[in-house]
Amino acid sequence: MRGKFITLEGMDGAGKSSHIAAILETLQDKGVEVVATREPGGTSLGERLRELLLHEAMHAETETLLMFAARREHIAQVIAPALARGAWVVSDRFTDASFAYQCGGRGVDQTKMEQLEHWVQQGLQPDLTLLFDVPVEVSVARLAAARTPDKFERESAEFFHKIREGYLSRAKAHPTRFRIIDGNRPLETVRAEVIALLQALA
Ligand code: TYD
Repeated sequence: MRGKFITLEGMDGAGKSSHIAAILETLQDKGVEVVATREPGGTSLGERLRELLLHEAMHAETETLLMFAARREHIAQVIAPALARGAWVVSDRFTDASFAYQCGGRGVDQTKMEQLEHWVQQGLQPDLTLLFDVPVEVSVARLAAARTPDKFERESAEFFHKIREGYLSRAKAHPTRFRIIDGNRPLETVRAEVIALLQALA
C-alpha cells in the first residue's frame, strides 16, 4: 500500500521545526517506515541548490525554477520511491512554500507556478499539510532572537505579510488536505494538537 505524504509549512519563525521530532516519533509509533526530508534539499543535488537559494540573490523566476529543479530530483530520488514501498514521507516544506514565498512574497505569476507544479509533480500532492500559522509580529520577533538569518529571513515584515496571505489562501483553496495550526500558543499545547491530528490519520 502506498505510504502517506505529509508536509509541514509556515512562515519562518512559525515554529514548525520545534515539532518535527515529535511528529516523526508519533508516526514511528504507528509501526510504519518514516522518511524525514526537507525542501529545498532532500538529495545531494538539492542540498547544493539549497545553499544557492538561501544565500545568493537572484531573479524571482530563477529562484522558482531552481526550487522546482530541486523538487524534481527530490520526488524522483526520495519521495516517489518511499511512497511506493509503503513508507510515510514527512517533508519540511514542499510546493505550498513556492506559492507562498515566490508567488505571494515575490510576485511570480501564479499560472506559471501551476504549470511547474503540474509538470514536476504529475498529480502528486501531499495527503496532509500542517500549516503552522502565527501573526507576522510573532514570527519577526522570534527570528530577531534566533541565529544568523538567511536570505529569506532577512526580508521585511511586509514580505512576511504576503507570505502569510499566500499560505492562508492556499489553505482555503485546498481545505481537505490543509490543517491550520495556531502556532501562537505554548509549545506543549501546539504539540498536543499536532500529535492528536497525526494519531487520527489512518
Ligand atoms: P526553512 O525551511 O525555514 O529552514 P530552516 O528552518 O533551516 O531555516 O528554510 C527554507 C527557506 O526556503 C524558507 O525561508 C522558505 C524558502 N522556500 C521558498 O522560498 N520556496 C520554496 O519552494 C521552499 C521549499 C522554501
